[in-house]
Order: sequence, then structure tokens, then C-alpha cells
Amino acid sequence: MAELGHSVIAVDTDAAKVESLSRGVAPMFEPGLDELLGRMLPTGRLRFTTDYAQVRGADVHFICVGTPQRKGENAADTSFVFAAARSLAPHLSGRALVVGKSTVPVGTAAQLRECLGEGAPAGAQVRLAWNPEFLREGFAIRDTVAPNRFVYGVDGPSADADVAVLDEVYAGPLAAGTPRLVTDFPTAELVKVAANAFLATKISFINAMAEVCEAAGADVVLLADALGHDDRIGRKFLNAGVGFGGGCLPKDIRAFMARACELGADEALGFLREIDGINVRRRSRMVDLAREQCGGTLAGKRVAVLGAAFKPDSDDIRDSPALDVAQAARREGAVVTVHDPKAMPAARGVHPELEYADTVDEACVDADVVLHLTEWKQFREIDPATLAKIVTSRAIIDGRNTLDPDLWRSAGWTYRALGRPTV
Ligand SMILES: NC(=O)c1ccc[n+]([C@@H]2O[C@H](COP(=O)([O-])OP(=O)(O)OC[C@H]3O[C@@H](n4cnc5c(N)ncnc54)[C@H](O)[C@@H]3O)[C@@H](O)[C@H]2O)c1
Repeated sequence: MAELGHSVIAVDTDAAKVESLSRGVAPMFEPGLDELLGRMLPTGRLRFTTDYAQVRGADVHFICVGTPQRKGENAADTSFVFAAARSLAPHLSGRALVVGKSTVPVGTAAQLRECLGEGAPAGAQVRLAWNPEFLREGFAIRDTVAPNRFVYGVDGPSADADVAVLDEVYAGPLAAGTPRLVTDFPTAELVKVAANAFLATKISFINAMAEVCEAAGADVVLLADALGHDDRIGRKFLNAGVGFGGGCLPKDIRAFMARACELGADEALGFLREIDGINVRRRSRMVDLAREQCGGTLAGKRVAVLGAAFKPDSDDIRDSPALDVAQAARREGAVVTVHDPKAMPAARGVHPELEYADTVDEACVDADVVLHLTEWKQFREIDPATLAKIVTSRAIIDGRNTLDPDLWRSAGWTYRALGRPTV
């Protein structure tokens, strides 16, 4: 927002994050973010605080706090969104616009407007719009400065004025041609979860094909290439492997199912249970292959895990397939050593029971099997001939289907992958 020319004050309840951001150090890894902070902080247009009172007088307030999965349930925990609204409400003044960005169950916006109304000072007019966030981790800056679409959910007598405010906020990207769609509240809320349900479905579809390929001796990568040439299908998100993870797709499809159930539309989303099931099965399949490769048991075997983040160019380990597989192998008695270019501090914090190594080579010392689980560019650049000298057994299982099988096999490795024939 500061890069787009606005004067921004960002509030977070986490004092450590605020302190780090104020020093120009992003509390997580996101390509280009430290550089951008370094450029914006000296302009004075970007400040961080834990004090809600400092937002008083702002023209627009974005609510972008987390909506994680509730413990022991599929539904989303929206308590942070309502807590943010309750903290913000007393500081609303005049005709300030509140804009929801968090991914929420459909119907939340209407409740949030009531909550803001209850807490706002007498005389303040509460205006709310819903503007779902579509950024992808790893591309967050590009997706924010030049998004592929805007959705504005608006409602009530101020709807036209609310659209005008958002158009002013996003004047730069709109002038550059970003399309924008104006909808009601529930449609705007649904766009985000529907988009994530579709993407998850595409990934689980190709992973279901991988299961069939394994049974039939076919090659899912060639199958995906051939399917992808049909532009009604497209090749993107048809990469078979250990499946999706992270802080969005898994919890969003579960929350979507839970909300549909509350609305009496559970049959419509029954297929998402299967999408989730296929995704989880691929992780177990990876462990099965590792066990097979180690002669039927992982007990006492050394397993090198390449990757901890749920995707490359991120240090986000929320619901990471890589760490799930690493833990499962450890539970079967393997000594598991993990290496990730960026996510080691995060992984160490949450999974101290695993071993960690600062380099790929260190992780692979005396390994009985190497598992490739996050598709970092660095892992595609590994020289299999050099790595062969370090391991006990030249066996790699490619859980992302992004390594070159010929290269690994010609260096004497047993290369196996999800959904591909064994040679
Ligand atoms: N991460 C993504 O790629 C992405 C993409 C699109 C949409 N979203 C959605 O955006 C929302 C945030 O996601 P995230 O990944 O950034 O979550 P996150 O958990 O990483 O960050 C949420 C932040 O909100 C802060 N917070 C919690 N309660 C607060 C309060 N009452 N007041 C002020 N700050 C508070 C937390 O301290 C934390 O720093 C979620 O609804 C998510 O589904 C995320």
C-alpha cells in the first residue's frame, strides 16, 4: 500500500513482529520484502504499531488478520477478525471505510458490520466492504502491486461511495488494466474459498491420476503434459506430487465444507472431502515408497528430507507436506534430517524432534534414502554425481516431480517418483 503511494499504519498484536518490521526486517521470508521495507520506511509513509488508537483518522481500515482452522474442527476460527473489529470500532470516525480482506466463511461480513456498529462511537457511520485477498506467497509483492483482479463486495446505501474509495486506493493497478468486479457481500466472500476449492481440486485430480498411473504402470507427468495442451484444461496446477499444504488451501476447503453444512448445502461440497482425502493419501504414499526403498522398514534408517516449507520461495511451514512426511518417517523409527533453504528456523521451532542440517550435503551424509519434498530451485541444481559420494544408498524419491530422472539415473541413482513407472 505504501508502494502504491498511500500513507500506511499497520497494527499487529504481536509486538515482536511490529518491532522487527519497524527495523525493516520482515518477520518471514518473502522475496523482495526486506528490500521493499528498506525503501518504504525512510519515506515516512509506512509505520508499524501495536496500538489501535493510532489508526484514528485513517480513511480506510483493512482487516487482514488470520482465520485458521479451529482446533479439532473443520470450521474457520474467525475470532481474530471479530477481535480486530472490536479493537478498531471505538477509533472509527466520520465516514471511514472498513475493508475485510481475511478469508472468511460466507455470512461473516454481515455479522462483522453489526459488531463494528456496536463498538463504534455515537455518530460514526459504519461502512464495510469485502475485498478478498488473492496474493500468493512467494509472489506476494507482485500480486499486491499488480494483482490479476479486484473483487469489491459492497452493500447498503454507501455502496457506490465505497466502490469509489476502493477505486482511489487501487488507482494505480486499475489504471494499469487490472479488472475489477463489484458484487454483494456473500459473493465476494465466496470468490476466495471457491477459487481455493478449484485449485485444490485440480491438484487432487492429477494426484488421483497419479494413483491410477502407479497401478497401471503409466507416467503421470506425460499424462499431465498431454492433458495440459487442451486449453480448456491447461497445464498449471496439474503437477502430481505430495500435494498441497500451507496456511490456505487445506483449511479453506475444510472451512468451506463446514460452512456449506451450516447452510444446508453440504451435498454440494461433498466432493471436497475426497479432494482432501486424496491429498492426505499422497503423503502416506511417499512414506510407503521410502519404506519400500529401505527394504521394508524405516527403523534405524537415515532419511534425508529436502524441503520443509510448504512451497518454494517461502518459509511458511503451516500444514507442510514435507514436514508431515518427515515426522511420519521418524515415527517409524527413521533418523530424519531436514534441510530447507529458508524454513529451517520455523521448522526447528515447531518440530524440535527432527534433525536439521545447514546444507543439502550435510543432510544427505550416510542417507539410506533422499526425499525431495519442496520444489526449491536449489534442489533442481544438485549434482547427483557429487551427492552420490555422500550417501549410503543412491536412492532418491521425487515427491514433486521436478528433478530430471535421466540425470539422476545416469549418475547411478535409483530414481522413483509419485505416479511414474519404476525403471
Ligand atoms: N498467506 C496467504 O498467502 C494468504 C493469501 C490470501 C488470503 N489469505 C488470508 O489472509 C488472512 C491472513 O493470513 P496470513 O497468512 O497473513 O495469517 P498469519 O496468521 O500469518 O497473520 C495474521 C496476523 O494477524 C495478527 N493478528 C491476530 N489478531 C489480531 C488482532 N486482533 N489485531 C491485529 N493483528 C492481529 C497476528 O499476530 C498475525 O501477525 C487469512 O484469512 C488468510 O486466509 C492469506
